Amino acid sequence: MQSVLIVGAGFMGSGIAQVCAQTGHRVHLMDVKPEAPEKAIREIHWSLKKLFSKGIIQEPPETVLERITTAVDLKSATRADWVIECALEIAELKYDIFQELDRLAPVETPLATNTSSIPITRIAKATRNPERVLGLHFFGPVPLMGLVEVVKGEKTSLEIFERGVDFVRSMGKTPVRVQRDIPGFVMNRIFSAAFREAVDLVAQGVVSVEDVDTGMRLGYGWNAGPFEIADNAGLDTFLLVTEFMKSMDEEHLFPNSELIEEMVKQGRVGRKAGKGFYSYTAEGKRIPSK
Ligand SMILES: NC(=O)c1ccc[n+]([C@@H]2O[C@H](COP(=O)([O-])OP(=O)(O)OC[C@H]3O[C@@H](n4cnc5c(N)ncnc54)[C@H](O)[C@@H]3O)[C@@H](O)[C@H]2O)c1
Repeated sequence: MQSVLIVGAGFMGSGIAQVCAQTGHRVHLMDVKPEAPEKAIREIHWSLKKLFSKGIIQEPPETVLERITTAVDLKSATRADWVIECALEIAELKYDIFQELDRLAPVETPLATNTSSIPITRIAKATRNPERVLGLHFFGPVPLMGLVEVVKGEKTSLEIFERGVDFVRSMGKTPVRVQRDIPGFVMNRIFSAAFREAVDLVAQGVVSVEDVDTGMRLGYGWNAGPFEIADNAGLDTFLLVTEFMKSMDEEHLFPNSELIEEMVKQGRVGRKAGKGFYSYTAEGKRIPSK
């Protein structure tokens, strides 16, 4: 059992907290917004009840929840065996968080970031101990998705990289080793190539959003189509990723950001807002298109 500090209690942070607690780790879930960890705990409880009723987890939800405590500061970093940062995808924000974590956490504690696009090497530069900084890139919804990319920054030590692989396995997930630190890592670059083409084809009136998703599910065996995946991930996060990729001259990998920008402006950020490429009920169920 490890003591894990999770920084950021949004969509990804709450999912990672749930999976850590489900697999026996002790979790401190922290967010600067006091209401965020409370909302996360409600959502985790709901999800655990569902998994328990289906026999997917054996422990009662309340027992799992007892392993999670919440906070609005980083103090528990001093006692953490692992730190996973899942705050907003804003480079400067992550640099500040890592500078503070590096000051607080014991020097043997690995500092992981769940960034989708920012090179680990850049984040590590904010610390005095870059060898302990690595990427643990989870996929959402975390309780349902089996993959975690373990990303090695230029200065990440091999020992920390391998501890990352073992830690991911301890959470019941499958690690994929990303040996070189490139913006967007591996899976997001491949997904974005498909998503960019899908957005272009819909914009040209060649095909509908629904038909692309059906096609990728039935034709290529994807569990969800690219527009369904984007709605789940949140288009606001997607836009932050695209903006960062622009700053790295890598925006060619990503879809037309004007469309995503317009949708975010209109509040159509995906499932969490009840509308994105699709519409959803208050419980997050997709409303079938007419
Ligand atoms: N959404 C996805 O599918 C997905 C997948 C993989 C990785 N990621 C990455 O995970 C990270 C979080 O994404 P998300 O979708 O959970 O975003 P989110 O907007 O749902 O949650 C981000 C949380 O960070 C909190 N936060 C902001 N500043 C903070 C600070 N200084 N300290 C602590 N918390 C702070 C916010 O209050 C918010 O609750 C991003 O880096 C994103 O790129 C997202």
